[in-house]
Amino acid sequence: MTHTHDRLLIIDFGSQVTQLIARRLRELSIYCEIHPYQKVTDAFLAEFAPKAIIFSGGPDSVTREGSPRPPKAAFTMGVPILGICYGQQVMMQELGGLVESGHGTAEFGRAFVTPTETELSILEGWFAEGREQVWMSHGDHVSRIAPGFEVYGTSPGAPFAITADVSRHFYAVQFHPEVHHTPRGAKLYENFVRLAGFTGDWTMGAYKDDAIEKIRAQVGDGHVICGLSGGVDSSVAAILIHEAIGDQLTCVFVDHGLLRQNEAEQVVTMFRDNYNIKLIHADESELFLGALEGVSDPEVKRKTIGKLFIDVFQKYANEIEGAEFLAQGTLYPDVIESVSFSGGPSVTIKSHHNVGGLPEKMGLKLVEPLRELFKDEVRALGRELGLPDSFIGRHPFPGPGLAIRCPGEITREKLGILRKADAVFIDQIRKHGLYDEIWQAFVAILPVRTVGVMGDGRTYDFACALRAVTSVDGMTADYYPFTHEFLGETATRIINEVKGINRCTYDITSKPPGTIEWE
Ligand code: XMP
Repeated sequence: MTHTHDRLLIIDFGSQVTQLIARRLRELSIYCEIHPYQKVTDAFLAEFAPKAIIFSGGPDSVTREGSPRPPKAAFTMGVPILGICYGQQVMMQELGGLVESGHGTAEFGRAFVTPTETELSILEGWFAEGREQVWMSHGDHVSRIAPGFEVYGTSPGAPFAITADVSRHFYAVQFHPEVHHTPRGAKLYENFVRLAGFTGDWTMGAYKDDAIEKIRAQVGDGHVICGLSGGVDSSVAAILIHEAIGDQLTCVFVDHGLLRQNEAEQVVTMFRDNYNIKLIHADESELFLGALEGVSDPEVKRKTIGKLFIDVFQKYANEIEGAEFLAQGTLYPDVIESVSFSGGPSVTIKSHHNVGGLPEKMGLKLVEPLRELFKDEVRALGRELGLPDSFIGRHPFPGPGLAIRCPGEITREKLGILRKADAVFIDQIRKHGLYDEIWQAFVAILPVRTVGVMGDGRTYDFACALRAVTSVDGMTADYYPFTHEFLGETATRIINEVKGINRCTYDITSKPPGTIEWE
């Protein structure tokens, strides 16, 4: 089988930071895939045909019988290999070196590597200050390097911090070049892939052309339906598929009545009017809000919305004649198979994107054109497809929408107030040029009325909380440090402009222990 791009294989031995290796490589326009060591057999290697291989770190000890190993064929394919941490140790062990546990040489955290006499091409640009900061995380250590290897860098806890067999292009380091705390780690990857002959052919332009060909080949003259949420992933997927097959795509936008101000109109205008994509605007707000009446438990809210969403989507999809395929904006982090140590050599695959088992229920085949991309690559593809930056940079918005920003019972009155307050907050953030610095910002309307005074009169209205956080992936978050002036001005505007709110608070909880949303 021929592959369009140069491919690099990352064999995953279970490190927490394996995904970062892929990120660093993708930033260098290198196509790579992560696969768990259990899956990488000789046959897999032959089919994958990597131009280079990286062994990731991992939590096991190579001194333990039965610990993970790469296939022998990896060493005889004639391709460059880079071993990291556990990857270094397993390389040494397999090629005739020795690894030992303990002896007080464990190293965790920041360390400094100093060079030995000989120069090494993958270290070009390193050691400008005579040493290099790296991040170590190992209990075991290499105590004897394999025949053919030499040492090119040492640290106090790792006499064999950087080793290589230059003739075979095998490189092995004890530290983690993929993490931030190894500031010049990206340079090491860059040198490695250049030496392996990669040309950096993984560009979004090339990806787009490829993806369009693949969609056409998969779909033929069949019909595709795509659920649009207004978020970046499903939008980019829809526009890409539309470029590939035009009218053979119908999008279904389920409006549950829990969207932000003007959001439904924006989605409809953009897709139907600007892109001329067939779009069904399923306005089912009455149905959803009716079902949510009297519900105040967050989990019941989520389940009610999730179940109705599937029913409604199915109802509209069934009306589209000849639909054979369902498009989903599944991303690469959702499909990377992770190494599982708890249950032996089993492999767990996340499948949460497969919403409620819809494709099976409806007998649809999946089209997932973003399966190979990370989030920021989806944004780059969106730009390539001509989506405006203001759309691509939109903050994430949860599926259950405003329902989880309205703690307690949801009423139409509260939703109306919430929409207005939220619009003022976002307007303030945009006016002050802060939108792109913030991961997510929104208002939550609190289930409490407070006393205030406006003019000569007493008020008794709702209180609201402003929430704005910085985050890399939504897993952890910190509150955004607005100035007091900004907060004061925003509170004044909300209380003056939004009837129904007379008190504003700013939520300064980080995640953990809080979550980003209020419910
Ligand atoms: P939390 O509140 O758990 O949110 O810190 C992390 C990120 O996930 C989003 N979120 C959701 N997205 N369905 C979604 O599609 C949900 O039920 C849901 N709950 C939270 C949240 O907006 C944030 O980006």
